[in-house]
Amino acid sequence: MLKIVVCVSGGGTNLQAIMDAIKSGKITNTELIAVISNNPGVKALERAKNFGVPGICMSPKDYASRAEFNDAFTAKMCELAPDLVVLAGFLVKIPEQMVSKFSGRIVNIHPSLIPSFCGVGYYGLKVHEKALERGVKVTGATVHFVNEGMDEGPIIAQKAVEVLDGDTPEILQRRVMEQAEWILLPQAIDDVANGRIKIVDGHVRRA
Ligand code: GAR
Repeated sequence: MLKIVVCVSGGGTNLQAIMDAIKSGKITNTELIAVISNNPGVKALERAKNFGVPGICMSPKDYASRAEFNDAFTAKMCELAPDLVVLAGFLVKIPEQMVSKFSGRIVNIHPSLIPSFCGVGYYGLKVHEKALERGVKVTGATVHFVNEGMDEGPIIAQKAVEVLDGDTPEILQRRVMEQAEWILLPQAIDDVANGRIKIVDGHVRRA
């Protein structure tokens, strides 16, 4: 059984997609053991509660320094000891110490086709604002393993989504979620849980 911890910052629609997929059997062999949010009072924590899973709030704002937060966050993750950490709209940079402790065991969903519209400053709605500003006709989402870089780890899966005339960032965000994110992330978790993917020479290969 793959034990997972999902980290969130806001609405938690990706978290919901994961919980729904566990319930419906689209994700097998997986147990959600906790949800960690860096923001108090967010909808994602309510979703965790409704699912009957512990919701933990850990905000950098509650610590004297980022280093102290990083230590506490990594220690909490080590205490929970998941087999896989899932970043589902988690807008806090993962401490390097945690990346090395959980090497190859952290996955992230990003709302663009990496390497487009990613890296520092590209998160949430901003990604879609930039895509519309640039006038791309296709965007999408990417699930990847997390390394020390920002959105730079080995890519697990990507799905393209059309940009349509008249799209606003909000409309495009919703389409990318519906057509790509809510499908790709549960699929990737199921693939990890069932040993279907591995990293070979820094690239993800299907087993
Ligand atoms: C999602 O679109 C996710 O891909 C994005 O934040 C949103 C969270 O929505 N993540 C990033 O931008 C990470 N760089 P949700 O809370 O409803 O799942």
